[in-house]
Amino acid sequence: MKLIFATNNRHKINEVQKLLDSNFSIVSPADLGCTDDIPENEPTLEGNASEKARYIWNKFHLPCFADDTGLEVEALNGAPGVYSARYAGENKSADENNAKLIAELWGKTNRNARFRCVIALIIDGKEQLFEGIIQGEILNEWAGSEGFGYDPLFRPKGYNCSFAKMTMDEKNSISHRGIAVKKLSDYLNALRP
Ligand code: IMP
Repeated sequence: MKLIFATNNRHKINEVQKLLDSNFSIVSPADLGCTDDIPENEPTLEGNASEKARYIWNKFHLPCFADDTGLEVEALNGAPGVYSARYAGENKSADENNAKLIAELWGKTNRNARFRCVIALIIDGKEQLFEGIIQGEILNEWAGSEGFGYDPLFRPKGYNCSFAKMTMDEKNSISHRGIAVKKLSDYLNALRP
């Protein structure tokens, strides 16, 4: 089955393709000639995932899904959360977001945080949500060069290194997106005759 993943982040497409059964082939909107800026204007991860998937469904009427992820930091009352991509401001880089996070947490002893990922799947116009959460801590300084986004600052609970020091396979096996995609995959496999 062909599934459109409503993102233009190649990194995420590769991560998710590795996690899904080979019966499912992921294509991006760009692969289908759509380079639109997919809207995400909702105040929650659930709302944004749903809005992105619905946009692609309305365009192609093909099975599609979208994800939205937030880094929720306890000492910052859940920030940056749904605003994780633009924490340091519109069009800022991951490095700038990470620098802001380090500054906001400077001197704080509570380093608890979690990544939460929500996936919205639409098949035949019907929508289903899947959630994945991983608990961890925010480090005081960058560590590692793999992955993307906040990976250099996030150390999953029970591990002694950041996500950015793990291989893609190691990260996928425990990550928020890995957990949500596993639920998506189980759901899709159960639909097969
Ligand atoms: P998105 O909703 O998946 O696009 O993610 C929102 C923000 O969270 C972006 O700034 C990403 O860099 C960051 N983010 C999402 N997933 C991850 C991850 O697996 N590791 C690190 N940062 C992530």
